[in-house]
Amino acid sequence: MRTQVAIIGGGPSGLLLGQLLHKHGIANVILERQSADYVLGRIRAGVLEQVTVDLMEEVGVGGRMRAEGLVHDGVELLFKGARHRIDFPSLTGGKTVTVYGQTEVTRDLMAAREAAGLQTVYEVGDSVRLEGFDGTSPSVRFRHGGQEHELQCDFIAGCDGYHGVSRASVPKGAIREFEKVYPFGWLGILADVPPVSEELIYANTDRGFALCSMRSPTRSRYYVQVPLEEKVEDWSDDAFWNELRGRLDPEARERLVTGPSIEKSIAPLRSFVAEPMRFGRLFLAGDAAHIVPPTGAKGLNLAASDVKYLSDALVEHYGERSAAGLDHYSERVLRRVWKAERFSWWFTSLMHKFPGEGEIAQKLQEAELDYLVNSKAASTAMAENYVGLPL
Ligand code: FAD
Ligand code: PHB
Repeated sequence: MRTQVAIIGGGPSGLLLGQLLHKHGIANVILERQSADYVLGRIRAGVLEQVTVDLMEEVGVGGRMRAEGLVHDGVELLFKGARHRIDFPSLTGGKTVTVYGQTEVTRDLMAAREAAGLQTVYEVGDSVRLEGFDGTSPSVRFRHGGQEHELQCDFIAGCDGYHGVSRASVPKGAIREFEKVYPFGWLGILADVPPVSEELIYANTDRGFALCSMRSPTRSRYYVQVPLEEKVEDWSDDAFWNELRGRLDPEARERLVTGPSIEKSIAPLRSFVAEPMRFGRLFLAGDAAHIVPPTGAKGLNLAASDVKYLSDALVEHYGERSAAGLDHYSERVLRRVWKAERFSWWFTSLMHKFPGEGEIAQKLQEAELDYLVNSKAASTAMAENYVGLPL
């Protein structure tokens, strides 16, 4: 087998990269550890920046997102029992975000890939081996259907997430990793109940953080901060709803509609960056290179902007025989990554209860939130980062 770009991982970054390359006539094959259904079953991000929306349009999969996605003009910050709105368009020169689930993004990209007849090999398990990327003729070995295969290529794109094989294939001395693990997680549930409010509510309370989000006018996604050692099996739906209710303001508490959960899980929170993001002919993108805590909804959006930079660089390489884009890929992407890391870390630190920190920490957070919602400068900084910095 031979292709131009071998893409490891069929999550959002791998699928979007595949479509961007295809649009420019660059052949690619995706190797995915899991089955398509498994990938679609993972409930993750929900908020798309305009840059991500534009990329979906660019590869011709914007139709359903335009019809079903919910355009949001702001978010509400709840602290000291009251909600305060941050209005995006007035603070950012007209920018908004779109609520459209990662599952739907993935489904649309998978359908486009299939319609274009592009090859995805699912269920390769842990068999993928990256070879020769420090030279001029890399290849990828994998097992599928009980047989060994070798895929020769010009470049390898490591889009295989935090636990993938790509970053792990780089010699230890060639990579630096920066990491912060937060001492809590998010317990999230998905339920077919109407959202408590039209916009997202990020809540700072003395019981800990809560987030009210949604997937549609009839499907809600809610999260509460929980200690790291908490087990999802120990949380009944009722226990979740009670805890959430206790973190809302009186009006929202009154309006909250509860129902059986469709999905319930606990996600750990981490800030992580690997530098650089290029090793010879191997390029990392998305969660394979960096993780942000979900406060601020940057993970999926960063994955999308990474692959935009990477596809531009590959298009330049094949079209103009220029290595400039590829040579600058890591540096260019990391500048944007670190800014999103900073924003997600700041917003996480502002909104969560940190174990072991006394009442003064709560008071300081409340003072900062009071400043944030009442200062145009501070609100603007928050809004600019939330809607996404320009490419
Ligand atoms: P992934 O989505 O991780 O995709 C990588 C793909 O590579 C997967 O399909 C995986 O099966 C495959 N793969 C892995 N190893 C191999 C291998 N060896 N060989 C072949 N394929 C392999 N972000 C938000 O903004 N908001 C959220 O609420 C949110 N919640 C999250 C909850 C969880 C539990 C996790 C893990 C992430 C969450 N994120 C959230 C982050 C967001 O979902 C990611 O940033 C986004 O999925 C990144 O896309 P990706 O394609 O780079 O990586
Ligand atoms: C979500 O809807 O899953 C979501 C929304 C906003 C975030 C994180 C997650 O900051």
